[in-house]
Amino acid sequence: MTDQKIYIFDTTLRDGEQVPGCKLNTKEKLELALQLEQLGVDIIEAGFPISSPGDFASVQEISKVIKNATVCGLTRAVQKDIEVAAEALKYAAHPRIHTGIGSSDIHIKHKFNTTRENILERAAQATKWARNLAPDVEFFAEDAGRADNAFLAKLVETVIAAGATVVNIPDTTGYCLPHQYGEKIAYLYNNVPNIDKAIISCHCHNDLGLATANSIAGAIAGARQIECTINGIGERAGNTSLEEVVMVIKQHSSLGLYTNVKTELLNPVSQLVADTMRVPVQPNKAIVGSNAFAHSSGIHQDGFLKESLTYEIITPEEVGAGGSKIVLTARSGRSALAHRFQKLGFEFNRNDVDVLYERFLQVADTKKEVEDADLQILAKQYASVA
Ligand code: KIV
Ligand code: ZN
Repeated sequence: MTDQKIYIFDTTLRDGEQVPGCKLNTKEKLELALQLEQLGVDIIEAGFPISSPGDFASVQEISKVIKNATVCGLTRAVQKDIEVAAEALKYAAHPRIHTGIGSSDIHIKHKFNTTRENILERAAQATKWARNLAPDVEFFAEDAGRADNAFLAKLVETVIAAGATVVNIPDTTGYCLPHQYGEKIAYLYNNVPNIDKAIISCHCHNDLGLATANSIAGAIAGARQIECTINGIGERAGNTSLEEVVMVIKQHSSLGLYTNVKTELLNPVSQLVADTMRVPVQPNKAIVGSNAFAHSSGIHQDGFLKESLTYEIITPEEVGAGGSKIVLTARSGRSALAHRFQKLGFEFNRNDVDVLYERFLQVADTKKEVEDADLQILAKQYASVA
């Protein structure tokens, strides 16, 4: 069987931008949208047009310049929202309206103070309004992660019948375990008669650190679109990280899935998003953190220097990272020290390294990281005595 495509729906400019302090102006959004298109994402969620004149302008300007990716605008299940989104998207080569409503009983009762039946009616109506204005309509069933599966199936069936081309099953609160989210998607495939008429999408939040695992579980169960953000930025603990799902899919070819993302652009785009949003990437972040390819303990360094595969499952080049790093600390070993001396142009034999290693440890115990300048001093002192 041939590999199946996973559509990458990037929501850095919408769900990611909702993070306090991350608001972007139109120029910044435009620049990021162009880079996301270069990266190879399939859909760019550019904003929530009715939310502010600035966001309307951003979606409109992005629609004018993005030619290959689909440009998407978010709406509530409200006619005015949908009309405004359609207006903002009118220049897009491939426009998509993303509308939806709450699907869990918690949302139905507390946010909408209504009934499941009324939600079905509003969902169908909103989808029809959107389909009258755009050929591509995605419906989101907010808080699907906590929704009753039988009701969710009815809702999905209803919006597909009303014209939805994509149905998004968000785990809005990051509540599900991977097997639960996967079973939810599988349940929909088994219980929604017209499901093959739409693409099912995963949209997972990271409140329990499970967003990537849940999205992959959804894809294994049949979903063919994953919604994600660069660096996993997003509401509260964030969204599914684009770089993580893309590399999981690439590393595990046995899943039979692929994406069109150019993985060598992952680190440059991550850096651009971090700089533009002024949110640094945590050092231990998978794929794009500054320590993602750093080795600092003696056992790891020794193995890595013999063969990089011993401790790296991805090459830094593959994801556009600067390269692997051997960091010298008090946990480092003799091989790493000898290797660094050699790189600095010092030829020491094994006995020399044994002596220098004891001196190195004394320095290392006083600092977080031993720098090349410290090693130059150690080497010169040693050479002047020897
Ligand atoms: O998390 C969520 O449910 C959302 C929807 C608006 C798609 O972001
Ligand atoms: Zn979300």
